[in-house]
Amino acid sequence: GVLPAGVAPAEIGVIGGSGFYAFLDDVVEARVDTPYGAPSDALFLGEVAGRRVAFLPRHGRDHSIPPHRINYRANLWALRAVGVTQVLAPCATGGLRAELGPGTLVVPDQLIDRTSGRTQTFFDGLPLADGSVPPVVHTTFADPYCADGRAVAVAGARASGWEPVDGGTLVVIEGPRFSTRAESRWYSAQGWSIIGMTGHPEAVLARELGLCCTAIALVTDLDAGVEAGEGVTHAEVMEVFAANVDRLRTLLFDVVAALPKTRTCDCGTAEVERPA
Ligand code: ADE
Repeated sequence: GVLPAGVAPAEIGVIGGSGFYAFLDDVVEARVDTPYGAPSDALFLGEVAGRRVAFLPRHGRDHSIPPHRINYRANLWALRAVGVTQVLAPCATGGLRAELGPGTLVVPDQLIDRTSGRTQTFFDGLPLADGSVPPVVHTTFADPYCADGRAVAVAGARASGWEPVDGGTLVVIEGPRFSTRAESRWYSAQGWSIIGMTGHPEAVLARELGLCCTAIALVTDLDAGVEAGEGVTHAEVMEVFAANVDRLRTLLFDVVAALPKTRTCDCGTAEVERPA
């Protein structure tokens, strides 16, 4: 198997974003290789409230991988390979509305893909190293996030004193640069809520593998079209994330504990259309 001897499989995956490089103290590190190459880092397996968790730092534990270079396929594949069925995906985002300022927690229910050039499917028609060719598949993706995972995240956040925003649209840009003011104003004018660089293709790859995916977005800044100052800086993003990371980790513990043990959502049975 892919796990070291004696290590039980995981059930829940947590993909930590910028500023979030460690989740549990008592972990077993597992290097998992995939048909798509290496994930961002080793998986860190441990337990929260009796639930088996695999943590993966999205940018690597030393933040060495920029958003557009992340091997999203390897990350999702590796999580599934160690048994994960439900993924929690915390991420740093910019607010696209004045009322969504730094420190706000948003649990988005929609996403817009403004990335370019990222491989966004396991079904890309190219043969794998073993010679097998994936089938042509068109994945249903109208609702990109798990409804049950979202409900648990929102309830958990409310219970621990956040005032989470339930729903909203996350626009994902290619990065690694931040947006111009004109781009940012355009995104806000569309009614989109928050902006990040990693939400796509993470969610769709999870869906293709039948995994639940719940994005939990911490707003670290107001994006350039909303704020009046000099524009977003990386330092600002990291500072706000650092100020909130303990709170966020505690929330994730609560959410892990409350996720359903048996899934009743549709994520695992997502309808895939296979043309003849
Ligand atoms: N991540 C954190 N803040 C961001 C912003 N303003 N734009 C894109 N990604 C971000």
